[in-house]
Amino acid sequence: MSHERVETNIGLMAILIVLVISVGGLVEIVPLFFLKDTTTPVEGVTKYSALRLEGRDVYIREGCYNCHSQMIRPFRAETERYGHYSVAGESVYDHPFQWGSKRTGPDLARVGERYSDDWHAAHLNNPRDVVPESNMPSFPWLFSNTLDGANTAKKMAALNIAVGATCPTCDLYSDADMDAAQGEVAGKTEADALIAYLQGLGTAIKR
Ligand code: HEC
Repeated sequence: MSHERVETNIGLMAILIVLVISVGGLVEIVPLFFLKDTTTPVEGVTKYSALRLEGRDVYIREGCYNCHSQMIRPFRAETERYGHYSVAGESVYDHPFQWGSKRTGPDLARVGERYSDDWHAAHLNNPRDVVPESNMPSFPWLFSNTLDGANTAKKMAALNIAVGATCPTCDLYSDADMDAAQGEVAGKTEADALIAYLQGLGTAIKR
């Protein structure tokens, strides 16, 4: 009888659905904020250097995430191809994280140190020069755009807020890091920064 009342009363049903989903969601999500595994950096995972931080922003600006995930799932087909599955403690310095789900190209979570810097440069300039069948776009402008580093310290300060709020044991940028930031990136090309970013991806856990 009461079941029929729920099924025939759309208002009541909507309220109950929201209740069930909220409780279910909270039970799944809230504990993650307090689990040590998800808020502690994996050994070897460090905060982004100034150059890698700028490279990460180039990655986001160019929309690399539209074709590349950075999340190896714990399935044999994935771990044999890409290496150890991704764990939460590898992403503690990533705000916003780049896990993604769209894979027009391969997952990049452990692409660091897989190729040489020269390979990445050739590939970004024109993927077909190194992978003839590739349909990845070319990004030649990254080689002529240079960074001035004017905002790098501000980006570090913003990351300190996000990382500090979610990861108690993380290493935040010091004033000295921020003072040195502009000098580290000024004059480098966007390609230099992007390649530095790529070369660090997923290297704390060996493939
Ligand atoms: C339109 C989809 C698309 C976009 C956008 C894209 N890629 Fe790719 N990417 C691919 C495809 C397809 C491949 C596989 C063929 C190849 O190696 O070129 C690939 C391969 C790669 C590889 C080699 C991975 C491996 O394990 O062999 C890297 C590194 C890479 N892309 C980086 C980037 C970066 C950095 C950007 C942004 C600047 C980017 N890609 C944007 C489609 C894309």
